[in-house]
Amino acid sequence: MNTAPLAALNHIPPHLQTIADYQKQAKLHLDAATWANLEGAAGDEYSLNNNRTAFANIQLLPRHLNSFKDANTQIQLLGEHYPHPIFLAPVAYQQLFHPQGEIATAQAASAMQAPMILSHLSTTPMATLNQVSSAPKWFQLYSQGSRKAALDLIFQAQHYAYQAIVLTVDAPHMGIRDQERRAYFQLPAHIQAVHHHPVSTATLKDNQHALFDGLMQQAATWEDIAWLVQHSPLPILLKGILHPADAQQAYQCGVQGIIVSNHGGRVLDTAVSPIQILSTMRKILPHDFPILLDSGIRRGTDIFKALALGANAVLIGRPYIYGLAVAGALGAAHSIKLLKEEFEVSMALMGTSCIEQINDSYIYQK
Ligand code: FNR
Repeated sequence: MNTAPLAALNHIPPHLQTIADYQKQAKLHLDAATWANLEGAAGDEYSLNNNRTAFANIQLLPRHLNSFKDANTQIQLLGEHYPHPIFLAPVAYQQLFHPQGEIATAQAASAMQAPMILSHLSTTPMATLNQVSSAPKWFQLYSQGSRKAALDLIFQAQHYAYQAIVLTVDAPHMGIRDQERRAYFQLPAHIQAVHHHPVSTATLKDNQHALFDGLMQQAATWEDIAWLVQHSPLPILLKGILHPADAQQAYQCGVQGIIVSNHGGRVLDTAVSPIQILSTMRKILPHDFPILLDSGIRRGTDIFKALALGANAVLIGRPYIYGLAVAGALGAAHSIKLLKEEFEVSMALMGTSCIEQINDSYIYQK
């Protein structure tokens, strides 16, 4: 395990005590356009804001006097043990936020033993991360219009010991992110996605629609998912599922898990917040079918609420990127550590000594 970032974690300046503190500080480290790329969300940002409000509106019902003998935060997922349920969500182009980009994130993941999901739009090759991280790694894919190209990347990921594939299905077109457009955000020339090779769209005829006959023809369909599941040597999880019928279809297609997500509010504004639809998903899917959740996790109590309502684990996106922007690997590791410790304290105060004990009886229902 790489403990270099951990040693310095005992000397963090006092103004960095929460993810909100890192958010404030990160803004000072990034130019306005990059900040808009990180922070901005789709449209009027209702989903972005509701992701937080939805968590705040859930009230906890703590129990007391439970024994904490052998207490722990371990989980089991897809046959693997993880020391805690906090995963690092795929975030594109991390060299935008710190020169060491995904390498620094991988070091932080390693120090905190947090599984890292490397974005398809990574600025660092997947092979490189093996040299800097002992944390488990998954690889995220966007559909690029070619089953073969997707499968090639899956085999590459397997070769480099990535343990699962996350297929993001909620962004066949990027969200209309007004903040970003107003700030004239453009990828600098030196920031490149090393694994992404978009297939050029066929030239459109006059009567064809640029979006529907163009980009949307490259978007994945359920047939593609079934084909990939059949051919992939690694388990596939679908990220961005919000409709219960899609959750059921995903299960029937043979995918090995879903990530309930609205992409941190970045794609479709006013899309429901994942935490609000989670318990419905849990009820209609087999109890042992993995459901992960992201979008809006900023506190240990948020993690507790997600697990109580049926998630097996959570992903954080912006929180570790704030840390990365502020202080590279050290900042990213510290932001994960803050959430992990807040979650542990939440468990202690809720009277739950292991993850299996966390359920919806700990949530106040009107
Ligand atoms: C993302 N997200 C994302 N998701 C994905 O599947 N592939 C990607 O390349 C990216 N890229 C990306 C860039 C940036 C700057 C952000 C903020 C987010 C979405 C991400 O995986 C996750 O779903 C959200 O970030 C979760 O919400 P929070 O934790 O940011 O509130």
